[in-house]
Amino acid sequence: MGLFSAESKDLMAIDISSTGIKLIELSHSRAGYALKSFAMVPLPRDAIVENMIIDSMAVSQGLIDALEQAKPSTRQVALAVSGNAVIIKSISLPTMTEFMLEAEIEVEADQHVPYDIDEVYLDFQILGEKEDEPGEMDVVLAACKREIVDDYQLVLSEAGLTTKCVDCSVFALENASEMMGAIPKATDGEEDQAVGLINIGANLINVNIIKNGKMAFVRDQFYGGQNLTEEIQKEHNISYQAAETMKKERFHEVNPEAVDRFYVGLTSEIVRSLDFYAANHGDHPVQHLSISGGCALIPDIAVEIEQRLGISASVVNPFDHLKVNKRKFDVDYLKEIGSMMVVPIGLALRGFDK
Ligand SMILES: Nc1ncnc2c1ncn2[C@@H]1O[C@H](COP(=O)(O)OP(=O)(O)OP(=O)(O)O)[C@@H](O)[C@H]1O
Ligand SMILES: [Mg+2]
Repeated sequence: MGLFSAESKDLMAIDISSTGIKLIELSHSRAGYALKSFAMVPLPRDAIVENMIIDSMAVSQGLIDALEQAKPSTRQVALAVSGNAVIIKSISLPTMTEFMLEAEIEVEADQHVPYDIDEVYLDFQILGEKEDEPGEMDVVLAACKREIVDDYQLVLSEAGLTTKCVDCSVFALENASEMMGAIPKATDGEEDQAVGLINIGANLINVNIIKNGKMAFVRDQFYGGQNLTEEIQKEHNISYQAAETMKKERFHEVNPEAVDRFYVGLTSEIVRSLDFYAANHGDHPVQHLSISGGCALIPDIAVEIEQRLGISASVVNPFDHLKVNKRKFDVDYLKEIGSMMVVPIGLALRGFDK
């Protein structure tokens, strides 16, 4: 199974992340994309650790609950993988067709992936010919450990679901961002455009820097909302759960010092990625950061990031770009949590790939 493949038009997205299961099904018409079904079900804290399913009973039950809530019209799933489970490398190769690369990909991957090739699922995307080196092309290579994908597939199949497509969260992030118009077209301005797509979840930050409409740097970093909850827990001397509730429901009561420590950590992680990117693309600095993920719900996060990094930043919300039937869904709630759904929405868009 290819990591990016989507042979089926009939797909729902399931994102099994550390804090919960998110299910999204979209439909497409000439009027654009519309929400068809939706569910978000929390998971107990240690059900998924570092992308591994630890408590498969809890995940199975979560899936059953999500299907019950959403009542999707299909049993076919696009699944997201991220973190340590995936290795994504940008490589450059002599220009060749997709068909030719298909035949050679294992040989190429063997040099770039630190695992036995038989232990991983492989896929690639040809980004196009290099601007400065004719005859060479940029390729993104993605490899995911089979045991991790197989574990996810197993819980999905136990819930009566078939995995049709496995995608990396960073690519789903790009897909959704394109739909939201968050990626400037290469022709939009005379200057080169670079934008950083930053999805901040509970444990992971998915970073995808797009230069001139093309992926230039991707990375998953271990940092996120859990760090803020832990800072609150320490600062206020309360339980993790109480800190989580305080963060989400009474943020104004949180001691600013805890928030400041979280931002120091967060911005230094983002700067690390920006520095890596700049090492190869120093002449095209990132001009804008597009913020999503559960942490995008933290009040004023874009202002904080903008002030601390000196780069303009904004929070994106996919529900500003999707049609939602008011009689079927709670539109206000969906708008409120919208930025948290960016990865599953990008994943659901796979069903409409040409
Ligand atoms: N209203 C809110 N205010 C502040 N933080 C919030 C709010 N709602 C959710 N969060 C935080 O967002 C995080 C969850 O975001 P998200 O759903 O994107 O993560 P995830 O996909 O489960 O995790 P990961 O991808 O890192 O494994 C949690 O840390 C949660 O506390
Ligand atoms: Mg996530």
